[in-house]
Amino acid sequence: MLMPALLLACAAMASPGEYPPVEKLHAISELPDPFLSSRGSRIESRREWPTQRKRLLDTLLHYQYGSLPPEGDRVSGRTISRRDLPDGLGNVRDVRLRMGPKGSVEVRMLLAIPSGAGPFPVILDGDLGWGRLGDAHISLVLRRGYILAAFNREEVGADGPERTGVYRAWPEYDGGRLSAWAWGFHRSVDYLLTVPEVDGNRIAVTGHSRGGKCALLAGATDERVAVTAPNNSGYGGAGCYRFHDDRSETLEAIVRQFPYWFHARFADFAGRADRLPFDQHTLKACVAPRSLVSTEALGDLWANPRGSQITYQAAAEVYAWLGARDRIGIRYRPGPHEHNLSDLTALLDFCDEQFTGRPSADGPAALPFPDAPRVWSWSAPK
Ligand code: GCU
Repeated sequence: MLMPALLLACAAMASPGEYPPVEKLHAISELPDPFLSSRGSRIESRREWPTQRKRLLDTLLHYQYGSLPPEGDRVSGRTISRRDLPDGLGNVRDVRLRMGPKGSVEVRMLLAIPSGAGPFPVILDGDLGWGRLGDAHISLVLRRGYILAAFNREEVGADGPERTGVYRAWPEYDGGRLSAWAWGFHRSVDYLLTVPEVDGNRIAVTGHSRGGKCALLAGATDERVAVTAPNNSGYGGAGCYRFHDDRSETLEAIVRQFPYWFHARFADFAGRADRLPFDQHTLKACVAPRSLVSTEALGDLWANPRGSQITYQAAAEVYAWLGARDRIGIRYRPGPHEHNLSDLTALLDFCDEQFTGRPSADGPAALPFPDAPRVWSWSAPK
């Protein structure tokens, strides 16, 4: 059931600096209109997009993730060790990044750089701590002519209730881990921009599952990121709060099990996801007009692959309106919840298309859920 237009208009986002508590927010049964401004009217011209994007991000941060930590002091990186790869493929460095106030947050980065002149585009992944990035990943990325940079987001903030990393550096900081980790991506970009082999205009951010949630947030909040690529990211990432299947996660489940990933306020929406003034298509739209691809697995039912298609289709309306329809993509593969070499290959293919200016628009025919309903009544301004 879709809401009548009048009710939807009443559910306009709060005026700047003013966010009503959940009890005061109206229920919106469809995907909220990303073109609705704080004044309750809709934006009309593309020139308004940067301001609208900022408003949408502020609202997403307020109710869901919490703000990102301050930028802090200049990031530095020290190479601890370096090894050459066989067959002249390149080299792998073990780098210690220092970020935050007086460099007090130390984060490990693996930096694998191909041989040759460069500068090279970069795949930046935050999941180094999971130990799943092995030689096969390094050699795949390097052979394609990309740098692989992987940092350990769990040193930015532990994946648990304990307050380490940025939470020790700024004891007042109240954002959730996804925001803290997104900040880790931004500080890693700061460092990468000082590495001579890096092509600073071609940095892609990625990560798996909870790592994909924060990669999407990082890409949405940093215009230096050229390609944003969450993998199997589900709830809090590319998934959809309002439209899920029987076997997928819910807002209630995620805030119960992982409250510290979010701002404390987000738990108020348990059982009331329809009061969110946004859904995850809003976060995807905030990447626009920069490139975005989500890689999904058909067997990963907990992550709601159908919901990710729905948020993709809704966000694609914003991309199309901005003249960037071919900058948003979604790639499905069979199989379970994991970040495997075929996901990485799909990302590299997408990056090649975006970086060479030969994008292949993926029309609705390629989507695995052709019958997914259009669960929004708005359309882009003329
Ligand atoms: C849990 C959680 C998911 C998350 C996943 C992961 O399953 O419910 O939301 O994506 O962990 O990070 O692996």
